[in-house]
Amino acid sequence: MTLKSVSIFPDAKAVTVVWQDGFQARFHAMWLRDNALDANSRSPGNGQRLISVLDLSVDTRIKEAMILPEERILFSFAPDDQLTEFTSTWLRQNAYDIERANEEGRLCPDVTTWDARLQTQLPMGKWPMVERSQLDMARWLSSIRELGFAILDDIPIRSGAVCDIAQSFGYVRETNYGRWFDVRSEVNPENLAYTNLGLQAHTDNPYRDPVPTLQLLACLENTVDGGDSILVDGFRVARELMRTDPEAFYLLSRYDACFEYAGSDDVFLKCEAPMIGLSADGEIRNVRFNNRSAAPFVNVPFDAMEAYYSAYRRFAEMIEDPSFQINFKLTPGQLFIVDNTRVLHARKAFSGSGDRWLQGCYADLDGLYSTLAILERDRVLNA
Ligand code: FE2
Repeated sequence: MTLKSVSIFPDAKAVTVVWQDGFQARFHAMWLRDNALDANSRSPGNGQRLISVLDLSVDTRIKEAMILPEERILFSFAPDDQLTEFTSTWLRQNAYDIERANEEGRLCPDVTTWDARLQTQLPMGKWPMVERSQLDMARWLSSIRELGFAILDDIPIRSGAVCDIAQSFGYVRETNYGRWFDVRSEVNPENLAYTNLGLQAHTDNPYRDPVPTLQLLACLENTVDGGDSILVDGFRVARELMRTDPEAFYLLSRYDACFEYAGSDDVFLKCEAPMIGLSADGEIRNVRFNNRSAAPFVNVPFDAMEAYYSAYRRFAEMIEDPSFQINFKLTPGQLFIVDNTRVLHARKAFSGSGDRWLQGCYADLDGLYSTLAILERDRVLNA
């Protein structure tokens, strides 16, 4: 990334940096001063910022900007006379003066959406490999980032092993259901998951804020008829809803739905959030959908409620459409993990004879993404 020139605006409030390959970007003096990388502005040890926006003069300007050897630029600022350097690579990676697609309903570039055609190429890993090899771990985590789920084979058939898997890349999220929970038929269950009923595709715990962003479900026994797992890419369905029924997409992203759980005496959980969550500038960020824990919707105006229910029904019909679904039957020693902000999971009903014993736990995407970012920084995937 070879630098060509740097020129200061006449009012000294910004610069234009031009690279040899023709790329150019403007940077504000205030932005550069705030992001200064010198030891007065950032702690050399941990990289954390030592200054606050209140330390910056409202009249921050660039006095001088000079290209140095090794693709660096030296800036001197007024009025505080601070000197700081940025590398060409840093400026390029952090350039904000770029063309951007601000289209509503877009997705993060790391994401690849899928439908039933993914059935023949489900992302799989083998625990003994993932546990021992950084490359296998990076591949497995990267498929979760891209597709929102993955399967893992050959895990220990042992109570609590599901937590060991979560701890291999992140941290278990303990909830009122415990550090981990058993999913098998019970008399008087505290949750309908603990029956042999089929469960419509859903995201888990939408009544919690923050919602657990990962769920792991491991199989210890499965000799019943049925009980297959079904997964649906909520981002794919949301995108398809936006394409085919933009008004429905608008309603489900504009208004909060309500979710509640009060299934045991000492717990009352409640959250209000849209079924399709967007970032401030319209990127699809999360999906919340769960018929069992939907509470009365009280944040939709009377005049919009009829259309809202049409949108809700349309979204539910699409989620139930087999063309969006993949399915598999977990066998003992297998686990699946889902990004609970994106991928919905369902279960087919199963017979009363035989045994089906799954164990689940929650974890969070921040730990997973951190582990993956370090593996990528260390070039494990490209080694
Ligand atoms: Fe669930």
